[in-house]
Amino acid sequence: MHKFKSLQTFYWKEETFYILDQRLLPHRVEYLPCKNHHDVIAAICTLAVRGAPAIGIAAAFAMALCGFQSLPECSSYERLKARLAEASQELLASRPTAVNLAWALQRIEKWLSMNDHLTPREIAAGLLEEAEKIFKEDVEHNRMIGKNGSALVPEGASILTHCNAGSLATGGFGTALGVIRAAAQEGKNIHVYIDETRPLLQGARLSSFEMFYENIPATLIIDSCAAYLMKKGQVDLIVVGADRIAGNGDCANKIGTYALAVLASYHKIPFYIAAPLSTIDLELSSGDKIIIEERSSEEITSFAGNSVAPENTSVFNPAFDVTPAGLITALVTEKGIVHKPDQEKLYKLCTKV
Ligand code: MRU
Repeated sequence: MHKFKSLQTFYWKEETFYILDQRLLPHRVEYLPCKNHHDVIAAICTLAVRGAPAIGIAAAFAMALCGFQSLPECSSYERLKARLAEASQELLASRPTAVNLAWALQRIEKWLSMNDHLTPREIAAGLLEEAEKIFKEDVEHNRMIGKNGSALVPEGASILTHCNAGSLATGGFGTALGVIRAAAQEGKNIHVYIDETRPLLQGARLSSFEMFYENIPATLIIDSCAAYLMKKGQVDLIVVGADRIAGNGDCANKIGTYALAVLASYHKIPFYIAAPLSTIDLELSSGDKIIIEERSSEEITSFAGNSVAPENTSVFNPAFDVTPAGLITALVTEKGIVHKPDQEKLYKLCTKV
């Protein structure tokens, strides 16, 4: 059916971190060898690796790369720590919206401060172990999100999704696509509508690829077709991922998500966000405080290398938007489902052991 062996987002081999280059999908499966943290930053900025949890995991491995690379010049814990702190700041600046990046770097920093008795070589090896743990845990959490979310998917459901919140956007299995995958694995007869997701077509290129890969029936639509489908009664539920969830439940996700939530409310269709706890940012009181990345105008003024707008056309290209908590039917996490998420429920969810 398909010619690729797996949807493995990345792997580590002999002090090199290999990233599945998502810019080439669905036509080519090629892994980008990253030898140092600068290579990983370039991969994140150019979206060779993208999706909130995936960039967090990549950043953790980048820190391990930096650890190994710095060994010849850093003979003490203090020197290595200073070098790693610089790398961490550079990684943090690579994309601003997804909080998983900061979350993973903070976890690495915490590990580092708890292991000041180790030699630099032990530190580098320990950082790699911690990155592998983050990677593994992400896949486990996604499987739990899938299992929890599948309970919200009725037999025969027609599901709409946006962008790519699948295996490729995470360590594996996916969040929104994890819910869909779990429902399909449980034998539910489902059908998926995939928004193409302008301008970079993560839906067309990546989510369609994942659904095709797993034989889950799916139909690709242009983003502006979603309203028409809902009006015709052809969407039973919507499930998408998130890049950052503010303390009050407002969710940042790929541009176009907010429009879907408004449409869902108008058509009385359940609207679900599937995301791990690492995407929740309790430090932000509301979605207004989330920094929205703006990307280059060429993403809109050209298509497949051809210009589609007059030269010097003025462009506004935010990569994400924020859906207010009031429009979210439920948040699906590895710890369970939070109906009508709000500050109190999110705080409880994140602090309960
Ligand atoms: O710009 P991208 O492709 O990184 O945007 C990705 C999304 O918006 C995803 O929906 C989000 O990161 C969730 S991934 C599980």
